[in-house]
Amino acid sequence: MDYLVGIVLLVCGVSPSAGLGPPETKRNVPRLKLSYKEMLDSNNLITFNGLANSSSYHTFLLDEEKGRLLVGAKDHIFSFNLVNINKDYLKIAWPATPSRRDECKWAGKDILKECSNFIKVLQPFNQTHLYACGTGAFHPICAYLEVGKRPEDNIFRLETSHFENGRGKSPYDPKLLTASLLIDGELYSGTSADFMGRDFAIFRTLGQHHPIRTEQHDSRWLNDPRFVGVHLIPESDNPEDDKIYLFFRENAMDGEHTGKATHARIGQLCKNDFGGHRSLVNKWTTFLKARLICSVPGANGIDTHFDELQDIFLMSSKDPKNPVIYGVFTTSSNIFKGSAVCMYSMSDVRRVFLGPYAHRDGPSYQWVPFQGRVPYPRPGTCPSKTFGGFDSTKDLPDDVITFARGHPAMFNPVHPINNRPIIVKTDVDYQFTQIVVDRVEAEDGQYDVMFIGTDVGTVLKVVSIPRESWHDLEEVLLEEMTVFREPTPITAMDLSTKQQQLYLGSAIGVSQMPLHRCEVYGKACAECCLARDPYCAWDGTECSRYFPTAKRRTRRQDIRNGDPLTQCSDLQHHGQHEWPGHCGIQGHLRSGEQQHVPGVQS
Ligand SMILES: *[C@@H]1O[C@H](CO)[C@@H](O)[C@H](O)[C@H]1NC(C)=O
Ligand SMILES: *[C@@H]1O[C@H](CO)[C@@H](O)[C@H](O)[C@H]1NC(C)=O
Repeated sequence: MDYLVGIVLLVCGVSPSAGLGPPETKRNVPRLKLSYKEMLDSNNLITFNGLANSSSYHTFLLDEEKGRLLVGAKDHIFSFNLVNINKDYLKIAWPATPSRRDECKWAGKDILKECSNFIKVLQPFNQTHLYACGTGAFHPICAYLEVGKRPEDNIFRLETSHFENGRGKSPYDPKLLTASLLIDGELYSGTSADFMGRDFAIFRTLGQHHPIRTEQHDSRWLNDPRFVGVHLIPESDNPEDDKIYLFFRENAMDGEHTGKATHARIGQLCKNDFGGHRSLVNKWTTFLKARLICSVPGANGIDTHFDELQDIFLMSSKDPKNPVIYGVFTTSSNIFKGSAVCMYSMSDVRRVFLGPYAHRDGPSYQWVPFQGRVPYPRPGTCPSKTFGGFDSTKDLPDDVITFARGHPAMFNPVHPINNRPIIVKTDVDYQFTQIVVDRVEAEDGQYDVMFIGTDVGTVLKVVSIPRESWHDLEEVLLEEMTVFREPTPITAMDLSTKQQQLYLGSAIGVSQMPLHRCEVYGKACAECCLARDPYCAWDGTECSRYFPTAKRRTRRQDIRNGDPLTQCSDLQHHGQHEWPGHCGIQGHLRSGEQQHVPGVQS
């Protein structure tokens, strides 16, 4: 194990008046680096190494109430116990039928890698059932899965009496991604809807209404997209204004960029969009998309763009209308490997969707902001009493529908908060794949702790700490942990705040680990303080989990400065009995600083 904190102990005893700040940290050196074996040996990892006839543990659904993690894999659905994924797990075998497998083989597909039922959709349907879809050996199929109402019911059963067509819900090809969300009995999915993997669309299926989708064969709407997430975000307190947001990457629009380029996108739809009346029948009339920018300025004046959106995490706040959006991006370049995390605010997203539409007069023209008269009601507005003043998208005037069909993209992009990434990694031989974020109460404020999965089976635990202000963030890499027995991309991630555990999926298995292992930081106050892990504090005898409710005087923690001099110097001088001040940032305030420093803007 690497104990980087060890060195600083020497500094601690030197001179309490020297005013030493936190030690200079190398950006890529974690405070704690644990190998797969060290994780297992220290009881910090539980792994489910899969069944011989299964793989591809890529589809996660966390059910905190029932205490289960549902995982869709190749030919199987699993229900794991959140306490320990290796104890009393349940499984259902759901292979493709032999005739489907034969058809798939005859169509020239790989019998082992492609002609199975890869589960791509797992969504809660009602109080007792989930909805599940798989590729069905290039013939998508869906079914209801009974899980019972209460945890003690212990029901886990596929309703095999009733299968549904999975077209427009799950892709045919297991390599393709799908993003789905089931709400009020309706399934929203961004997926590919044909055997060849050319017809990508955003669908709404199930429920009482006719299925609805994006315009077909129009590259202005979608241009070979890969969907990574879909979320409902309310726009006002009136549910009529509820919007569905899709996150994806796709080829840049024709003429938007010279050469082949990928852009990251956020797309919006109204939940109560039922399509047009005379045109755009059974197509979305409120679809709009905007580019998500995540870039850093280069020395030569050329920005380095991270355009390959890999994953999205929404950090909810007290106001459901304004979650913080975390995005994980990589570069498109073959020569230059890089990853970044960018953060976006919903107010910036809404401003872009209310801004100018992208417009061009013909294929040989440039895209410009549309300057003409925008028809009323403004395309993208939901039918509601709050903003729209109209009852249904079927009542939209023809000029609105015509405009909406020709102007699905916004001209302005959405820039990240502070106009730059919060994390950039360019000098390492791995890339980011997944992210989940936990909001943690610490002694000196709230911090968002990020758990970032990589393509080599490791997880980075990173906290971003304000230096002088909210606009100047310092990225602290707390831990780097190997969670799979061999290097493999982490493709699914979920976090249980109730269990304080993180769950990880990959092609080869599922792993589970605690969000914190405070004791591993060391056996001294200084080591604990220097770790700057918001989960951990020195309690007088050991480095342990910090609870904001615990008696303040006994807890020592300093996330913002990580300064053991203010926190632990009395221990050096007087032994470990009395503690005059609290373990906060007292005594280390720089001029002009407020004592109350929130780690996260609320
Ligand atoms: C996989 O193997 C298990 C036993 O190890 C068996 O119960 C299950 O039915 C098999 N699944 C398939 C899809 O063949
Ligand atoms: C949930 O949906 C399933 C499948 O349609 C149905 O059989 C079941 O009765 C429903 N349960 C409840 C509680 O509505």
